[in-house]
Amino acid sequence: MTKAAAVADFIRAHLPVTAVPGIPALKLHKAGSASGIGRLGEAAPYWAYWWAGGLALARYLLDHPEQVGGRRVLDLGAGSGLVGIAAARAGAAQVTASEIDPNACVAIALNAALNRVAIADITGDMTQGAAPAVDLLLVGDLFYDPYVATRVTAFLDRCVAAGVTVLVGDPWRAPLPVERLVLRAAYEVAEAGAPKRAGVFAYRPG
Ligand SMILES: C[S@@+](CC[C@H](N)C(=O)[O-])C[C@H]1O[C@@H](n2cnc3c(N)ncnc32)[C@H](O)[C@@H]1O
Repeated sequence: MTKAAAVADFIRAHLPVTAVPGIPALKLHKAGSASGIGRLGEAAPYWAYWWAGGLALARYLLDHPEQVGGRRVLDLGAGSGLVGIAAARAGAAQVTASEIDPNACVAIALNAALNRVAIADITGDMTQGAAPAVDLLLVGDLFYDPYVATRVTAFLDRCVAAGVTVLVGDPWRAPLPVERLVLRAAYEVAEAGAPKRAGVFAYRPG
């Protein structure tokens, strides 16, 4: 059995299918108190938990399908795949995802199938490369760390310069480059069971 197949078996067996807080039409495999997620051997299985930025951005896309309908979309730092799955449900022409965590890539494929949507491709780190061939780049809660934020900001600069529209969901974490963002909407979301306010922003050229 491959490592990916073993991870998929573990997720199916131990991470219960859970309705997305505030978006009951979507469901994802998420870690519960009995999941034993540490057995996957990861330091930080971010994909297994809810993130306020992704929850807000997913809600925004479903509330505003005109933002995504017929467009080619990339979910950057996709985690569980929530934002890309919401984009597909909202009518995106094609959805791809980028993730550096191989276990997250397994979870994205499982969660897409669970919600009966297609994620065309799941790639690794794209932040050092050129702007991808998409119309819309979605960034859910990727400004959680100053080092990651610096790399992501430089990539987003290249993307908007190439004509890609960028939408960011974030609960105003400290490394968020607020000077580059225009607030489109704000939502009260449930991250780790606690209410948290998160914004959805358009990223503007520098
Ligand atoms: C805080 S989680 C948010 C996940 C998801 N977007 C959401 O909102 O639920 C950030 C994710 O970004 C991934 N990540 C970090 N740096 C990345 C990079 N350079 N390229 C792709 N993914 C990255 C991490 O592995 C992690 O799964």
